[in-house]
Amino acid sequence: MDKYVIRGGNPLHGDILVSGAKNAAVAIIPAALLCDEECIIENVPNISDVSICLRILYELGAQVDMLKKDTYRISCKGVRSFNVPYESAKQMRASYYFLGALLGKFGKARVSMPGGCPLGDRPIDQHIKAFNALGARHCNDHGMIDLAADKLRGNQIYFDVVTVGATMNAMLAAVKAEGLTIIENAAKEPHIVDLANFLNSMGADIMGAGTDVIKIRGVKYLHSTTYAVIPDQIEAGTFMVAAAATGGDVMVRGVIPKHLEPITKKMKKIGVNIEEFDDAVRVWVDGPLVKTSIKTQPHPGFPTDMQPQMATLLTLAEGTSIVTEGVWEQRFRYVDELRRMGADISVDGKVAVIAGTGKLMGAPVKACDLRAGAALVIAGLAAQGVTEIEDIHHIERGYGDIEEKLRGIGGCIEKVSSPSVRVKKAL
Ligand code: EPU
Repeated sequence: MDKYVIRGGNPLHGDILVSGAKNAAVAIIPAALLCDEECIIENVPNISDVSICLRILYELGAQVDMLKKDTYRISCKGVRSFNVPYESAKQMRASYYFLGALLGKFGKARVSMPGGCPLGDRPIDQHIKAFNALGARHCNDHGMIDLAADKLRGNQIYFDVVTVGATMNAMLAAVKAEGLTIIENAAKEPHIVDLANFLNSMGADIMGAGTDVIKIRGVKYLHSTTYAVIPDQIEAGTFMVAAAATGGDVMVRGVIPKHLEPITKKMKKIGVNIEEFDDAVRVWVDGPLVKTSIKTQPHPGFPTDMQPQMATLLTLAEGTSIVTEGVWEQRFRYVDELRRMGADISVDGKVAVIAGTGKLMGAPVKACDLRAGAALVIAGLAAQGVTEIEDIHHIERGYGDIEEKLRGIGGCIEKVSSPSVRVKKAL
């Protein structure tokens, strides 16, 4: 079992480059199934969720070639299978995008119920509602979701909750359906726009992505494209918070500052200095951090995927902060681990009350999910002493080369595997 060993207390300094967005890439890669020629996808992050997506494509019969570390050529002309088995799908939540993409390609799909981070109840009723509206029948057959349509036809889809996954899945299924699809109460995250831009670059006709009404006029054929995934705003936000938590001065490069606005605004409010450039943000701290209140919400609200990282920063601020989780039922499971590091946080349901203690201390901890893991990395970098983080496979799902990147700005972080630790101890 690998773990991160972090010696904290060093202010981070220097430039750090952000990779492509996980939550865009994991939809864009399955979307390649809809392309009738080959496509080239650039700025693909080096993370395990992407490897799983690419492996599923390959297992379905696609040709996948790595042209550079972050660039893949994908041809799905030879794909005949529409079956994504449990072994592949269980490893990540985003395997549900194969439902929409295979349905859009073949008019049928058989995909295992998805896995992913344990954040509480994660129903897919809105995905099914969209597929049904487009003319697909569904059934749950021993953990496999079966979809079949005689013909996919455009329709009006109103989502009862704002959902990223169902919005993207509806787009994937509708892009080649006959006629007009109108998605109402759509999610507006930057990765929704990115998926629409990718599909449009192949000849799709999608308008309104980024607003709450998306209109899709079905097309018959999607041609080849070369497309670069947008930068990951959550990875960027994580580095911004790490810079602030360590009292450092970091230039986070390769970002779209507009996508970071909900994060930037909150960080400025608690006393972090942020200067925006065309494709970079400089983050530094030269005074005390102060308490605030945060409620996570769908975009353009404060992103839930930054909640654990910001809560960690608030443990270092003066005063008592309130963090309310507005998207997921259980996203405070990391709090017990932060308490081990000296944080004073109490949780009641979806609300956390954080009494800033101004400091954290190193301790052995466990990542319970992806962003919880990112929060512990930040805590470890800011803490006095050594922090060992177990279960880092969660972190590797969404942060590529994180140790190298953080070492590049002075972070003292190393990945070690348990056997070598045992050897060291034995010596
Ligand atoms: N929901 C339903 N029914 C559905 C779908 C969603 O009730 O059919 C509810 C969920 O239970 C939740 C809310 O709607 O309360 C929002 O869920 P959403 O569908 O937006 O989430 P998701 O698509 O499953 C994606 C990201 C998550 C991120 C959320 C919210 C991917 C692969 N995952 O999940 O990312 O937290 O949107 O922004 O894109 C992460 O990256 O760490 C992560 C968990």
